[in-house]
Amino acid sequence: MLYRKLGKTNLNVSILGFGCMRLPIQNGSQSASDVFDPNKAIDEEETIRMIHEAIDQGLNYFDTAYGYHAGKSEPLLGKALKGYRDKVMLATKLPVWLVKEPQDLGRLLEEQLQRLETGHLDVYLLHGLNRQNWARMQDLGALEFLNRIQADGRVRYVGFSFHDDVKIFKEIVDAYPWALCQIQYNYYDEHYQAGKEGLTYAASRGLGIVVMEPLRGGRLTEKIPEEVQRVWDSAEERKTPAEWALRWVWNHPEVSTVLSGMSTLDQVRENIRIADQGKPLSLSEKDLWQAYRSAYAGRPFVRIVKQSQGLYRYPEPKILQGTNFCEIGFEREMRSDRLVVMGAIDNLVKGTAGNGVQCLNLMGGFPETLGLDFPGLHPI
Ligand SMILES: NC(=O)c1ccc[n+]([C@@H]2O[C@H](COP(=O)([O-])OP(=O)(O)OC[C@H]3O[C@@H](n4cnc5c(N)ncnc54)[C@H](OP(=O)(O)O)[C@@H]3O)[C@@H](O)[C@H]2O)c1
Repeated sequence: MLYRKLGKTNLNVSILGFGCMRLPIQNGSQSASDVFDPNKAIDEEETIRMIHEAIDQGLNYFDTAYGYHAGKSEPLLGKALKGYRDKVMLATKLPVWLVKEPQDLGRLLEEQLQRLETGHLDVYLLHGLNRQNWARMQDLGALEFLNRIQADGRVRYVGFSFHDDVKIFKEIVDAYPWALCQIQYNYYDEHYQAGKEGLTYAASRGLGIVVMEPLRGGRLTEKIPEEVQRVWDSAEERKTPAEWALRWVWNHPEVSTVLSGMSTLDQVRENIRIADQGKPLSLSEKDLWQAYRSAYAGRPFVRIVKQSQGLYRYPEPKILQGTNFCEIGFEREMRSDRLVVMGAIDNLVKGTAGNGVQCLNLMGGFPETLGLDFPGLHPI
């Protein structure tokens, strides 16, 4: 196992962290909706086996939250860590949506310490900050609360997990001496939410970067589109889908640890194996190009609705006959095309602020995200 420093803290964290949001479910396969389903029971025996094996192999960072598995993740993690607590760093999150008045802050933390059967947390995060709940947390005195719980030793380091755009992300980063932030990041969503811009910004201010959803919750490892498989098959060195995705995240020196919500013992073993290769900047230019090509394979067109004419420089847009849709076609070289298309959209946005462009959509196998990077455009 490889280790990296968590920002400016004294913590040396394993580069693979265990996300306890997608634990194995009894009598059936695990699916995304199980995460918050109160009727689904976790397979405790298997979970404990996975956790112990991970720790024995050097994994030392565990991430859970009040709400995962409808409240069952924290108590089970507490149970699994009996006799192991001192070997690991334990992170959980304040369910900010349950905080209605200032007293709720301390009450929830105490409940979480009890559930986790521990006297202190190594990391405590405000869960899922966005523009709205960030404002509410400040009004309810959450920042003063974070000061208090660090001073009295119940929590060693504080941070926040995040789901919103990069503008508010930067505001939050600058508003408090956070030790770390937790962001969604993977080769497919490089420019989504905080994205690369946010990651670079937070790291430059000394925050540790904890990455969540490196496999997009499993979507980057299942039902691989044909176009993507073709790209991978053409690589010099074969890698599994999980390997492409995890190695791409670890390639960033700014990233401290990557949480994977592992659901089987085999996944734990495979991800630990991959983590041995996860040195910063260890992917070649060719590998990176391959990852970009796979991210953009299957996104053959950018389609723009209600465009105004004469706004593009390059590539030449085509208006689809009989519609008010516009296409920008990709050529063969996906990486350079991606830049060209990004540039074209950028020009479009700058050239048309308030002037006709309303929606952007991608045709092809992957229907989301690119448009979210550009203010003023909304996906349809
Ligand atoms: N704070 C927040 O707002 C927030 C939000 C999201 C996540 N998180 C945290 O971040 C953690 C990581 O996010 P995530 O769970 O979405 O991680 P992820 O690694 O993107 O997705 C986990 C899923 O990937 C698949 N997988 C994992 N290893 C694999 C392998 N070697 N081969 C093939 N498939 C593999 C499994 O899905 P299948 O078994 O279905 O194939 C697994 O359930 C979470 O567990 C949670 O702790 C926090």
